[in-house]
Amino acid sequence: MATLSRRRWFGTAVFAGILLFFSGFCASEKAPNYSFVHKATSAPPISYYDYIIVGGGTAGCPLAATLSHNYSVLLLERGGSPYGNPNITELNLFGAALSDLSPTSPSQRFISKDGVINARARVLGGGSCLNAGFYSRASLHDIWEVGWDGRLVNESYQWVERVVAFEPPMQQWQTAVRDGMLEVGVVPDNGFTYDHIYGTKVGGTIFDKDGHRHTAADLLEYANPSGLTVLLHASVHRILFRTRGRPRPKAHGVIFRDASGARHRAYLKKGSKNEIIVSAGALGSPQLLMLSGIGPQDQLKAHKIREVLDLPMVGQGMSDNPMNAIFIPSPVPVEISLIETVGITHFGSYIEAASGANFAGGATRDFGMFSPKIGQLSTVPPKERTPEALAKAVELMDKLDEAAFRGGFILEKITGPMSTGHLELQTLNANDNPSVTFNYFKDPLDLERCVQGLSTIERVIESKAFSKFRYDFLTLPALLNMTASSPINLLPKHANASRSLEQFCKDTVMTIWHYHGGCQMGKVVDHDYKVLGVDALRVIDGSTFNHSPGTNPQATVMMLGRYMGVRILRERLAGNDSHE
Ligand SMILES: Cc1cc2nc3c(=O)[nH]c(=O)nc-3n(C[C@H](O)[C@H](O)[C@H](O)COP(=O)(O)OP(=O)(O)OC[C@H]3O[C@@H](n4cnc5c(N)ncnc54)[C@H](O)[C@@H]3O)c2cc1C
Ligand SMILES: *[C@@H]1O[C@H](CO)[C@@H](O)[C@H](O)[C@H]1NC(C)=O
Ligand SMILES: *[C@@H]1O[C@H](CO)[C@@H](O)[C@H](O)[C@H]1NC(C)=O
Ligand SMILES: *[C@@H]1O[C@H](CO)[C@@H](O)[C@H](O)[C@H]1NC(C)=O
Ligand SMILES: *[C@@H]1O[C@H](CO)[C@@H](O)[C@H](O)[C@H]1NC(C)=O
Ligand SMILES: *[C@@H]1O[C@H](CO)[C@@H](O)[C@H](O)[C@H]1NC(C)=O
Ligand SMILES: *[C@@H]1O[C@H](CO)[C@@H](O)[C@H](O)[C@H]1NC(C)=O
Ligand SMILES: *[C@@H]1O[C@H](CO)[C@@H](O)[C@H](O)[C@H]1NC(C)=O
Repeated sequence: MATLSRRRWFGTAVFAGILLFFSGFCASEKAPNYSFVHKATSAPPISYYDYIIVGGGTAGCPLAATLSHNYSVLLLERGGSPYGNPNITELNLFGAALSDLSPTSPSQRFISKDGVINARARVLGGGSCLNAGFYSRASLHDIWEVGWDGRLVNESYQWVERVVAFEPPMQQWQTAVRDGMLEVGVVPDNGFTYDHIYGTKVGGTIFDKDGHRHTAADLLEYANPSGLTVLLHASVHRILFRTRGRPRPKAHGVIFRDASGARHRAYLKKGSKNEIIVSAGALGSPQLLMLSGIGPQDQLKAHKIREVLDLPMVGQGMSDNPMNAIFIPSPVPVEISLIETVGITHFGSYIEAASGANFAGGATRDFGMFSPKIGQLSTVPPKERTPEALAKAVELMDKLDEAAFRGGFILEKITGPMSTGHLELQTLNANDNPSVTFNYFKDPLDLERCVQGLSTIERVIESKAFSKFRYDFLTLPALLNMTASSPINLLPKHANASRSLEQFCKDTVMTIWHYHGGCQMGKVVDHDYKVLGVDALRVIDGSTFNHSPGTNPQATVMMLGRYMGVRILRERLAGNDSHE
């Protein structure tokens, strides 16, 4: 009977896959034709606005949509439109954009000094166009700690959720992981909820029931079309300041380049409390401040940048939550899924899962979130992840038997993290990546949380609930030793470390792309997100976080864009502004 239902399930999955494939093309026809989105090449050489927002990403889009109701807003995004690109819109193509290394790709690869291959967005909608879609709110503790107004936070989350958040399908494999977590004590069962609560839950997703992605760009539906101008392929190279005759420098314009390289200037309209807001992400925001003369003096000097303000903490406090995962081959077919369920443990580790092969990069078989094609190479220690090692892993993967792709990954990501690093300029070109160091596991507490997370995963794999998705003959040590025949799990080769989860953590570390910091609150911006020591400039995005909120950050990044938009409007309505 079980075989029969499984076979029926598999048939349904294939059929659904075919449907998905075709509806993907229909989706592009339904893409909103925003009247306010233009290519930067069509922009005048000089223009004037009340607000200029740099970065049409996860925070920038909701912020622009909100401010456009009462002010004229210019949103400058260096990438193109996400609409009509199946690499972005289709769940089963996850990873395609991340493996596209062309200069027009919506994803820009970067490799931290730690050796971990990573990615940053270059598209309207930002990281929400590339990500695994999991949608989960920050904890009440996080909200209290930042000092946000809880009521406005809730209203802002709901504003976001009405457009982009959905309940995931929870098929057999994700359900087995959830039940396994409950069985090994990650309790209670909190059902389906966006809230951050200890125990096991099903979270939200920005993929709808047909597997179509909804992104922060969709939040522009809320905009007032006559108050907003969005320019695509508009790369901001510098923020301009007035310094003469003022106690503090004041931001008053930006220089951006269009796709043909032509320079444009946009200025703030005069005589008001107008502002420039930087929402260029955790790499882009500190980088742009430095390129504009705000940052550590020694770095500005080293690059011969005229100093506007010596602000030593710009680019400091960079963190990336390490991710470690175990692949479990399955004797039965599994659905294609990205993250749907999460275990929120008391020891500071979050357990999540993804399953099924997908078809990223036009190749026949892939490991989705964990594909070497997107740079997630866990079978080689970080510093050894050379282009040659990547190519070898891809080649090995192509040789694998079909059955090897049947299965899924259970991963853990730690809270925080405690370990921090730093970002420095490499060149004077805003399009180039800065250099970034995250120092994974430098703090022993991070390592301890990883070990506890992995031990929990081991128990989930051995749970009764998970048993039908595990080969009985594959013992845990054998599972971890799956490198010999396939590029999957890495058994630490170190002499003493055959069972050392500490070594496993360090050697197999990957990213879950939740990197943040660089313009942290209290160090670069104040509690109103205003850049310390200058006027008319704020930073509003993931670069302001001291740690990554909730289990996964995007819900809170979108919330923050809306939240700050509403607060700015309210403050101006009340005639309340501290600087003028
Ligand atoms: C592959 C991947 C998977 C992820 N999975 C999840 C998940 O499942 N759940 C979750 O909650 N989070 C996930 N995340 C994390 C989440 O998506 C990010 O934390 C979030 O999108 C960051 O938002 P942001 O606004 O800070 O930056 P971004 O969204 O990156 O926005 C910054 C924008 O600024 C633009 N920009 C930068 N510099 C300039 C410039 N000089 N001029 C003009 N424009 C500029 C960029 O092109 C970009 O669009 C994932 C991220 C990635 C990359
Ligand atoms: C989008 O709208 C603009 C005018 O608002 C129109 O010129 C253009 O043809 C439309 N594009 C599509 C694909 O419908
Ligand atoms: C916000 O919503 C959460 C549930 O999602 C609730 O626990 C909390 O009390 C709410 N906060 C306020 C201030 O209403
Ligand atoms: C989708 O991704 C693939 C490879 O990752 C790339 O070759 C292709 O050009 C991309 N398509 C679009 C529309 O960006
Ligand atoms: C790991 O696999 C290799 C090659 O198959 C084998 O020689 C070794 O004994 C295995 N180690 C363990 C701990 O299973
Ligand atoms: C390995 O273990 C031996 C004895 O248990 C010890 O002397 C040695 O220092 C260990 N090596 C490492 C690298 O930890
Ligand atoms: C925005 O403008 C409308 C009228 O256009 C006004 O009624 C409203 O009070 C304003 N709101 C804020 C927050 O400024
Ligand atoms: C100004 O705004 C702050 C919060 O941003 C508030 O505490 C203060 O009371 C406001 N002042 C006036 C005069 O409205």
